[in-house]
Amino acid sequence: MDFLIVLDSQSNVPLHRQLYEEIRRAILSGRLMPGQRVPSTRAIAESLGISRATATLAYEFLLSEGYLQSTTGSGTYVTRHLPDATMRVDTKDGRRKTLIETGGLTKKSVKRLSKYGSYIKDRPWFAYGEDEPEIQFSFGRPDFDQFPMRQWMMLANQLAKKHDLSLLDCPSKSQGFLPLREAIAAHLSKSRAVNCTPQQIIVVNGSQQGIDLVTRVILDRGDQAGIEDPGYIGAKKAFEVQGAQLIGVPVDESGLVVEKLKDPAMANMKLLYVTPSHQSPTGVVMSLPRRLELLNWAQRSGTFIIEDDYDSEYRYAGRPVPALAGLDRSDSVIYIGTFSKVLFPALRLGYLVVPASLTEIFARAKFLADRHSSLLDQQILAEFIKQGHFERHIRRMRGLYQQRRQVIIASLKKHFGEGVEVLGENAGINILIRINWRIDDEAFLRVARDKGVGLVHTKPFYLNVTPPPHEFLLNYAGLTDEKIEMGIERLHAAAQETRNRGPIVPA
Ligand SMILES: Cc1ncc(COP(=O)(O)O)c(C=O)c1O
Repeated sequence: MDFLIVLDSQSNVPLHRQLYEEIRRAILSGRLMPGQRVPSTRAIAESLGISRATATLAYEFLLSEGYLQSTTGSGTYVTRHLPDATMRVDTKDGRRKTLIETGGLTKKSVKRLSKYGSYIKDRPWFAYGEDEPEIQFSFGRPDFDQFPMRQWMMLANQLAKKHDLSLLDCPSKSQGFLPLREAIAAHLSKSRAVNCTPQQIIVVNGSQQGIDLVTRVILDRGDQAGIEDPGYIGAKKAFEVQGAQLIGVPVDESGLVVEKLKDPAMANMKLLYVTPSHQSPTGVVMSLPRRLELLNWAQRSGTFIIEDDYDSEYRYAGRPVPALAGLDRSDSVIYIGTFSKVLFPALRLGYLVVPASLTEIFARAKFLADRHSSLLDQQILAEFIKQGHFERHIRRMRGLYQQRRQVIIASLKKHFGEGVEVLGENAGINILIRINWRIDDEAFLRVARDKGVGLVHTKPFYLNVTPPPHEFLLNYAGLTDEKIEMGIERLHAAAQETRNRGPIVPA
């Protein structure tokens, strides 16, 4: 081939995908002409220093999409009738080019994505919403069967019967329904030692929107954004698409290692995301000295901290540690709470607690994002909290999940014995396990799924820290004791079947 192919081995885009894109682009731009012969997969693999399988995969895509044709015995050629022919235009110099390649020439009709859009298009996405296996240990969801739906619907009916049509209008403030903000402020003061006014609260559509708004308000392209390593994928992605430079900060048994923040390479960190109540994914609870040390550092360095308190309601052992936001004296902490784990995730309601000086800015950012969260749902929720249903539900769920937590730990010990290490079991609704056998992780996940069991590998949570092999997340909240026992038994069988096949972890 008479053009240069450059592959980026550091990129998150798989090499076969990069090679496919390079060749496709060369064909569409006319650098590779219809009918032109292309090198064999062996030759291209050798010249680029990649495996033959990678080159073959890229060629298979190009062949199946019609960019290349192969004739037995005589090699592979650029096809004569290109699939993107409709995208090709005649340029002034008489050459045929694609709209993508013509730059300013046909600017009006060129549709290009922003860096944000391109990032979302090109980078690997996390598998979400695939068909569910029979026993799903995968997602941090609560037990839907236990949700007091009757109570909720009664409140909704009472509200509807009022025939107050002003309920259907947009509130002038995007910050959220005031009685709900008052109820949240009272709840936070009582259960998390966070003393804030309702004016500091912005009602949002779950933690993810909270993270997104903080990202937009605080970060510019190129800014340093710190994240626990391993850390929550939802936050990592939000920072990355904003063009931030991601900095991983390791975690030990006391939480985020604050000492590491003194590294000069982190001196310009603008925002740091942490999950102190139940570190995602390790489940570690950040110690009080570590919290104070972190706040001290934030004050001295002028860094904003996002405290994602996503499942702090579930704590089973040890004394509750006050939230960072309750200890903060320098307006460094932006607190995020969500109703996804305590009620149900499809409700899409959560909240930010922001320093008083930032309230109006966040309210405007929320307006620009989606004006405001559903007012009807906010009103039902406000009543639900005010009438005491919320607290009762949390207490009941805490008891139930504590019992299920004991069931899963006992079941793991029964089946795996010393073959498994359990972490993060004192809080939240997930546990993290490390299987001490030499298993092939990818095959293990596949075999488990064949047996009707889904679980999550922790590798995607890691940034620079090397992921330990055989580490998985198990959510047990939505499963009955019988399902938990059955699931662990099947996981044990899957581990036995894939034992000694090598320490391979999924890409
Ligand atoms: C660390 C963390 N934060 C927040 C959430 C909840 O997100 P949301 O409130 O957007 O549903 C999750 C969900 O799994 C999570 O793991």
